[in-house]
Amino acid sequence: MCLIRTVSELKAWFAKIDRRSMSLGFVPTMGYLHEGHCSLIKTAKAQNELVVVSVFINPTQFASNEDFENYPNDIDRDYKLATYSGADAVFYPEVGEIYVPGSSTVIEVLGDMTKKLCGVTRPMHFRGVTTIVGILFNIVRPNKAYFGQKDAQQALIIKKMVMDLHVPVEIIVCPTIRESDGLAMSSRNVYLSPEERTQAICINDAFQKAEEYIRANNCISVLQLFKIIESHICRYDLMRIEYIQILDSDTLENITSIESGKIILVAVAAKCGKTRLIDNKMLSIT
Ligand code: PAJ
Repeated sequence: MCLIRTVSELKAWFAKIDRRSMSLGFVPTMGYLHEGHCSLIKTAKAQNELVVVSVFINPTQFASNEDFENYPNDIDRDYKLATYSGADAVFYPEVGEIYVPGSSTVIEVLGDMTKKLCGVTRPMHFRGVTTIVGILFNIVRPNKAYFGQKDAQQALIIKKMVMDLHVPVEIIVCPTIRESDGLAMSSRNVYLSPEERTQAICINDAFQKAEEYIRANNCISVLQLFKIIESHICRYDLMRIEYIQILDSDTLENITSIESGKIILVAVAAKCGKTRLIDNKMLSIT
């Protein structure tokens, strides 16, 4: 296991271990790893001979009013957690190593997929994400790359980028890992005060209520589903809903009715105090 700081060190390591003869799984992260990240690394290890994890707080996906400067980091802890989960190398580059001087190229998925949901309040965010993931794919050249369902929109946009650009990598989307009370794990959960932390679970509780409604009534009204989620979250005084969206889980297109057998994506973004939380759940009627 090794900590690699530069692209040339990574290339030298690949040459030493004869990377070409092995399948390589890649897990891009912004660090401050938790069990959600570790589950991606473990899945990657189970499916590949080699696993590389990147830890890079990507400046281009943060707006100037966001938490880039304060984003939590602890590389020693990340290195240990990544090793424990099965990583063979952690790539931890400086910003200047990734965005070479004068760098002016971006990768952007155009259209509705990047404009809705988180794209409304974070209009440049996904351009930053696809640019960094594209750069990292070119540096690491993995066979498979692992992303979390927790960021469902991000995973779909990356799949679209890979398809549109014929990038030779398979995208694997892994389930959301939650705390025992249902809160989706996130590096940003450390920002929550004890009282906010207690209220934050209402998003997952609202999903459970939506699921119960679907089970009890085999026919679903999108509006009714929306109201169930909204009214539950609104009971908590520290929560401010940014969006609740009920969409086609493959295309993120709006839906008006829910057909039997079709999987829908219920996605929520809300501020809990000053911390922005996102979560989602796939639901279907049998
Ligand atoms: P980050 O927030 O560190 O997340 C890295 C990966 O972990 C993403 O694929 C994310 O969806 C996944 N993940 C986060 N929380 C999870 C959870 N509770 N369960 C399962 N998976 C979870 O997402 C990013 O970084 C960045 O945008 C990145 C893709 C690295 C580009 O900079």
